[in-house]
Amino acid sequence: MRGKVEVDGVLTHDCRPRQLAGRVGILFQDFEAQLFCTRVDQEVAFGPENMEIDRNQMQRRVKEALSLVGLNGLEDRDPATLSGGQKQLLALAAVFALKPRLLVLDEPTSDLDPMRVEELLSALERLSQRQDLTLMLLGEDLRLARHCSRIVLLARGKVLADGPQAQVLRQVEIFRRLGLPPPELPALFYDLGQSHLPLTLVEAEAQALALVGEATGRVLTAPEKIVSLGTPAKNSALVTAPEVLALRRVTFAYPGTAPIFKNFSLSFGQGELTAILGPNGSGKTTLLKLLRGLLKPQAGEVWAASLNGQPLRIGFVFQNPDYQLFAEQVWEEVAFGPRNLDLDPEEVNQRVEAALRRVHLWEHAADDPFSLTKGQRQRLAVAAVLALAPQVIILDEPTTGLDRREQQDLLDLAKELNDQGHTIIMVTHTMWAAATYARRLIILRDGRLILDGPTREVLAQEETLAQCRLTPPAVVQLSRRLGFTALTPEEFRQHIERHGKEIVGAGPGT
Ligand SMILES: Nc1ncnc2c1ncn2[C@@H]1O[C@H](COP(=O)(O)OP(=O)(O)OP(=O)(O)O)[C@@H](O)[C@H]1O
Ligand SMILES: [Mg+2]
Repeated sequence: MRGKVEVDGVLTHDCRPRQLAGRVGILFQDFEAQLFCTRVDQEVAFGPENMEIDRNQMQRRVKEALSLVGLNGLEDRDPATLSGGQKQLLALAAVFALKPRLLVLDEPTSDLDPMRVEELLSALERLSQRQDLTLMLLGEDLRLARHCSRIVLLARGKVLADGPQAQVLRQVEIFRRLGLPPPELPALFYDLGQSHLPLTLVEAEAQALALVGEATGRVLTAPEKIVSLGTPAKNSALVTAPEVLALRRVTFAYPGTAPIFKNFSLSFGQGELTAILGPNGSGKTTLLKLLRGLLKPQAGEVWAASLNGQPLRIGFVFQNPDYQLFAEQVWEEVAFGPRNLDLDPEEVNQRVEAALRRVHLWEHAADDPFSLTKGQRQRLAVAAVLALAPQVIILDEPTTGLDRREQQDLLDLAKELNDQGHTIIMVTHTMWAAATYARRLIILRDGRLILDGPTREVLAQEETLAQCRLTPPAVVQLSRRLGFTALTPEEFRQHIERHGKEIVGAGPGT
């Protein structure tokens, strides 16, 4: 309404979006909305085509953009058939092919596997150093911050911090005040009452050793640390509950492609809370769809228990909740399922209200689902599933596109449902969510089961995890370096504090 916006020497007030198109490229948070072609290579070529770039150069650009994001080889695929992460990468490639001088990426890592995030950001960082390219990354994901020279903290339209990375990332209190997840390692040491806050694992390891050393009056050396800091915590045993769902010797291929799963078996017990992790394109969504019967295997079988003589009720929340929302009103959306069960209207009303209250959307009952935020739409999809009173709830990337508070709310809800006996199976790239909430972790790669066990045991296998392109949360990595496995910052703190005391109690030099 007042003031000016200047981009690359141009006042936006005076020009139309198309005039800025070649200068500013934006990857939107809702990247699927950016895809519309029927072939991957055409999607990337669309921008350059419209800028009337010559054919050879265009082909070069398409190739370059696809290799930046690691999608070469998929040129002739229909974007609609890509996995969630592959779609996000494709949208990025399409923006990149325009060769903008300013590249703005809104939550660019929400659907990417941890290692892909690192590779992609490192590649972009290198490009921005070599070429005339300014990068602006938006989001709460602090893995992004590591690649940025400048960080701006924004809240309610105000800039609350603006400075070099090393300075802003140590402002743990500001992050907390804003309700933002603070950087993991600085927050960990802040809570241990330290004034110097480490930013890297190496710094953090040295500081943790010094800290315990101080408490014990001894200098801990590297080989000694494992003994001094104790043995790994005891693993919580897996529930040996009756089987509710199983894939038995399943082989599955999408039409015209090589099989993703070959002779694959996996079973789920009643009351489990399982997280499935793995690289982009490893078959996670496909696996969930097989479990839900949305895809049928070419060989083998998918088995579901019948409980009390009734078929098992399985609720499914898609990677993109917008695929399952269709009603014009929030209330109607949730009522659709129960009505189809031929329940009497009173029961339908009760279920809808209970489900909406459960996900804190009751006040929005009369709203249009598409006027809700992404987090609310995600919760609405969960409510629609809850209203069917399913015994098993399957969630595909439930935290995508949500801020930390919303992620926590949703995961707390999943845990609460699990405590009440629902079996929960979720796929996620959000490592802290898996570490904090899941009791069982399953690691998939190329349609093969690589690891399967209690969360703590699986997260201790750093080499195998790295081969599967997974990076555990910093707190898990740090504790592993120190000789134990903490799954959360609280566990880490308790462990350090307890062992500091124990060693002190035993007296120095013992
Ligand atoms: N309809 C389809 N036709 C052909 N190939 C497909 C189809 N759907 C998925 N694929 C391919 O199957 C592989 C597994 O896809 P899936 O969606 O299960 O991966 P994912 O593990 O969920 O990945 P992400 O983490 O990116 O969501 C991918 O390489 C994907 O491109
Ligand atoms: Mg997926």
